[in-house]
Amino acid sequence: MAEAKIKESPFSPGWPVLPEYFVARIKEIQRLERSVNQTILGKNENIFITGPRGIGKSSLAGLIKYIAEKHSLIGSHCFLGGVRSLNEMMRMIFQRLLQDCKDESVFDKLKNIFADYIKSITLFGTGVEFTKDKGELQTLVDNFLPLMRKIYDQIQPNGKKGLTLILDDLNGISDVPSVKN
Ligand SMILES: Nc1ncnc2c1ncn2[C@@H]1O[C@H](COP(=O)(O)OP(=O)(O)OP(=O)(O)O)[C@@H](O)[C@H]1O
Ligand SMILES: [Mg+2]
Repeated sequence: MAEAKIKESPFSPGWPVLPEYFVARIKEIQRLERSVNQTILGKNENIFITGPRGIGKSSLAGLIKYIAEKHSLIGSHCFLGGVRSLNEMMRMIFQRLLQDCKDESVFDKLKNIFADYIKSITLFGTGVEFTKDKGELQTLVDNFLPLMRKIYDQIQPNGKKGLTLILDDLNGISDVPSVKN
């Protein structure tokens, strides 16, 4: 399937894993590919990847982002290790979504959707910086689902079929009592 066709490495520098090593993860990749296909059909899929420290969760998630992008989804891999509030979580998720965006016309759409929250931006997104204002960020928390819908609707004319959001290192925020409850 898709993993056998990959020629270039989907990993960030510093993650020296070649995709062929993922033969050992064939079932997990196939399971996640099914979710990618469901997303393409317009269905919402939520998957938890769990496992011991260093087992390869982030690498697997990174591979799936790569596969999703090959299937015309937009993808974002957001690391939430230091995050302790939903406000900060929204900031990290949407900031990363713009930073990860590789398509200029999609980037422009995202930039318009989040115009009120973007405080600075360098050429084509690599230096997107969102507001740190708690009140402003709270509106992102309150409107998370409508925003997802808005992004989904607006990227369709650009040939994008959906969105794959990877929320990595969730342990920190899931231990915060106000978020748990
Ligand atoms: N399928 C794989 N085959 C070979 N090496 C792998 C594979 N997946 C991950 N690795 C290697 O194992 C190391 C840990 O991988 P990774 O960071 O993805 O694990 P993790 O489960 O996300 O770790 P943590 O629990 O710390 O977040 C990395 O150095 C990576 O290169
Ligand atoms: Mg990890």
